[in-house]
Amino acid sequence: MSEREWWRDAIVYQLYVRSFGDANGDGAGDLEGIILRLDHLGELGVDAVWLTPCYPSPQHDHGYDVADYFDIEPVYGTLDTFDHLVAAAHDRGIRVLMDVVPNHCSDQHEWFQAALRAPKGSRERDRFWFRNGRGVDGGLPPNNWRAVFGGPAWSRVTEPDGSPGQWYLHTFTPWQPDFNWHHPDVVDHFDRMLTFWFDRGVDGFRVDAVTVVGKHSDLPDAPPSEEGTPETDVWAHNPYTVFWPSAHDHWRHWRALIDEYERTHPGRQLVTVSEAYTAKRPDLLLRYVQPDQFHQSFCFDLMLSPWVAAMIREAVASVIDVLVPAGAALAWTLNNHDTQRSITRYGRADAATPASWTGNNLVYTDAPVDLEVGTRRARAMIAFAAALPGTLYLYQGEELGLPEVLDIPDERREDPIFLRTQGREIGRDGCRVPLPWTSSPAHAYGFSSADVEPWLPQPEGWGRYAIGPEHDSEASMLALYQRTLRMRKQLDPEALLEWVPLDVDVDDVIAFRRGHVLVILNVGSAPVVLPADLVGDTETLLTSWAGGRFDGTLYADACVWLRTLSPPLVQHRSR
Ligand code: NOJ
Repeated sequence: MSEREWWRDAIVYQLYVRSFGDANGDGAGDLEGIILRLDHLGELGVDAVWLTPCYPSPQHDHGYDVADYFDIEPVYGTLDTFDHLVAAAHDRGIRVLMDVVPNHCSDQHEWFQAALRAPKGSRERDRFWFRNGRGVDGGLPPNNWRAVFGGPAWSRVTEPDGSPGQWYLHTFTPWQPDFNWHHPDVVDHFDRMLTFWFDRGVDGFRVDAVTVVGKHSDLPDAPPSEEGTPETDVWAHNPYTVFWPSAHDHWRHWRALIDEYERTHPGRQLVTVSEAYTAKRPDLLLRYVQPDQFHQSFCFDLMLSPWVAAMIREAVASVIDVLVPAGAALAWTLNNHDTQRSITRYGRADAATPASWTGNNLVYTDAPVDLEVGTRRARAMIAFAAALPGTLYLYQGEELGLPEVLDIPDERREDPIFLRTQGREIGRDGCRVPLPWTSSPAHAYGFSSADVEPWLPQPEGWGRYAIGPEHDSEASMLALYQRTLRMRKQLDPEALLEWVPLDVDVDDVIAFRRGHVLVILNVGSAPVVLPADLVGDTETLLTSWAGGRFDGTLYADACVWLRTLSPPLVQHRSR
């Protein structure tokens, strides 16, 4: 029996709870709605699900503003429903990950409410970052830090006696006050929280926004960022919080707690995956996946890469070259609830230009979109990514081929990014639109048990993406996902990636081998005839296009898997 941990090469499906399935007919998804649709996940062959935050929350940031870390949001269900979900998923062999938000809570959290009532300098205030303001009467924020979602990173409170008071720090929005991790209560709170959910059978956590958890304790002004830096990117240039080293002490503490939990609960194998955007800096990524910190950290550069062969290859190779020799796990993803959907990104007129790299998943160009091109590329990319060593995280709806919904009316948009930038940034609502389950518009295309208007509007014709007659076709995106994920399970998980140099006259083709499987991706806009000595003696396992036939010429924007008979080539490091 292999000792390999399950999470080293799993398929994890991200459930955006609010938009997956609505069982109680109120227009928002819920836990029961997930339980009723578990068959879909079983048929896809996922090993685990990751639930976006489903704790009680005023939903200013759709759950990433947690009011109580020890309960379930009433709109989504109860602790009982949650226990049923865990049991139903486990019955099918599907593990359950939750989402933990350590940097901040909701301003409705009882600790923050207590801090507002308590005096300056109190223990209650010290669990957050309260400071006096600058300028006459303290009317200016304590420093110049900017919030990720627009505006200053500080808000002023009114003291209990009605006078204008101190300011508190919020890296994201005023509804999300940052915790002060130097305070022992904060450390203890999260120890209790992790244990509480592990005791309910949870198999791990996705850990939110880890790069901003540490702060320079003097909170100095950040240096000015370059002229023209987009509003949602200014925060990323603040060296006094982003990648501040003190956070790593907390991750070590968490890992010790988790290791101890596993030791005292034989048979449990827990995982944490951290959300750290490290834009072309695998050395920074490596800091999070030290053996005494997180088990995994998303490798986001592949998701953010333009449709350019050299950049895609570099996004993979640079991470593998740093993480694999260190024994660290890999976690690939192409979509999530914060990022424009891949079909839309790849369909942008500028997608194949290196200049479209922003390194930031919140910053996009508004070049026109060709969904046909985007779909072809997204198909090729999932085939490519599914063959990489490591874990693959999917985001709900990508298997249906959903595009980003770009034309949600302003008055229906809910993302705080849109609201806090007064609409200058479009925000993330477009990748969170409730899933279509039926082709007919009744019951919000099958999303809801009632004929309600869902929390975000679904565009007309959304039903064309639903599971149903359309997806019975072998040509559908869903069929491709099912084939690809099935095929992926046949790869040898231990097989390393070996880049294959190609003797072709174009720069648009990338090839690698894993064991006896040769994977070739053509990101160019013209078909490429592949060398006969490479593809001659092979059997076709998978094609990103429908039909599955491959005659040695690889179409534009396409990927193929071939079984080779020759022994694996060189070492996995090729550069
Ligand atoms: C990252 C989460 O993925 C995003 O949805 C959220 O708004 C921020 N962190 C703040 O928690």
